[in-house]
Amino acid sequence: MSMSYELYKDFWVKLRAEAVKQAEHAIGSTRGFVAAFNVNVDAVKLLREGDFNRLASKANVRAEELKAAEPPPEASEPRHVVLALAKALIEGSGFEIPIASSRVADWLSETLRADEYRMGGQAGISSNVLSVLGVKRVYVHVASMPLLQAKLFRGDGVLVPRVKGGVLKALHPLEAYSELDEPMIHWVFEFQEGYRDEVNGFEVKAPRSDRFIASYDPLNSSLHVDSAFEKFMRREVANVDKALISGFQLVRPLYPDGSTFKDKISRFKGVIEEWRELNPDLWIHVEQAFMSNMELLRHSVLELTRCASSYGLNEVELELLASSLSVKSTRKGPLHVLEELKSMINTLGVELLVLHTRDYSLALAKQSGENVARSLWFGCMLAAARTTTGFEVGLRDVLRVLDRARLPMSFEAFKFHSELAESLGVRLGERDLLEGLEYGGYVVVVVPSLVNPKPVRSVGLGDTFTAGFLASLLSTRP
Ligand code: GLC
Repeated sequence: MSMSYELYKDFWVKLRAEAVKQAEHAIGSTRGFVAAFNVNVDAVKLLREGDFNRLASKANVRAEELKAAEPPPEASEPRHVVLALAKALIEGSGFEIPIASSRVADWLSETLRADEYRMGGQAGISSNVLSVLGVKRVYVHVASMPLLQAKLFRGDGVLVPRVKGGVLKALHPLEAYSELDEPMIHWVFEFQEGYRDEVNGFEVKAPRSDRFIASYDPLNSSLHVDSAFEKFMRREVANVDKALISGFQLVRPLYPDGSTFKDKISRFKGVIEEWRELNPDLWIHVEQAFMSNMELLRHSVLELTRCASSYGLNEVELELLASSLSVKSTRKGPLHVLEELKSMINTLGVELLVLHTRDYSLALAKQSGENVARSLWFGCMLAAARTTTGFEVGLRDVLRVLDRARLPMSFEAFKFHSELAESLGVRLGERDLLEGLEYGGYVVVVVPSLVNPKPVRSVGLGDTFTAGFLASLLSTRP
């Protein structure tokens, strides 16, 4: 008999306190963290009854178009935003498209009123998560820092490198803003499971809660690197232990000055390679985001992971990366996922690969399973806590928030984990949960998610998981 769901659940519930303890220890011994490169303002629009219909009629989108169209990969007209939003709603899946012209961005600002402005971008969201967790020095790269952006930082740990009074230093965000900077606004449409609307008899209904993003972001999409940040990190990186790299998903194939995605990616890569040279012990994690252009995805990931320690992605991104790297597995079920991940980790040459899905997170690693299992579990708990508060949760509050929320543990995770063990010829026991399973020379650790079908906000949950996971990962280096 393999392990029951009840025993499985009890095991993880018992591990909660230990996971928080490991996080506390790891955070206490972290000298510095860097989060780069994308920070922006998320203008969040919570979809309420009739909102989709109103937006569609203002953009003159007809029912026939909604039925037929696959939205274009970028929005050069307001209609494109509506078509892409319809797809996200119907599929219940979150993705992002770039806005190609300032005209569309202006149209959105004139047509919609944001319910709130929130910190956006992987680097921005994770720097807040880390700072609220108590990481002491979180150096964050901010391409554009108007007051609106500066006010969105949280906690006491965030530092923004800038030149002030002729001196290069890391400043509190509110000392680092500039009145000359423009906000980089991303429109985030949050929808909840069951959201329903119609356009001339054509019905859209969301099978799941998620968010759709339309972003107009000339600076981050040209992978701009701030020179003060670059110089400051050159000086400081020897005192930093972990780096979280993201934002390359915003890269465009071609730029007006004739440069290409290859030029932009090589600029990011140059910065990371320099850090690696200056601090060989730095743990560099690269995080994927939604990117549908296969050529750009392949090139970016292969280049940026060359000196990375770990790589992270979600289930939608896994399939995209698998086809861009041509690593399709013919297996079925959990082994399909595992085989794809193994080909990926071999191709990318990283020490650790993390997949985070709605139901579980999984790491393929070269190191001890226990450290990884507690870190994954901490990341999951932190993200789950955020689904109920809508905001970053501090180290001391995680367990209290979770106790109050009583979120169910994913049964799908249990099924996946048991089936995986079975396919590997193992009868799942408690030790395997913590120490992981063995597969092709790697340790495989699977951790269940705590599921909230109606999160207060969907945006930023993946980033919260990743930041929590990385923050609590213990260094295995001497
Ligand atoms: C992407 C989006 C940003 C959002 C973030 C959430 O970076 O561009 O708007 O905040 O994803 O993960």
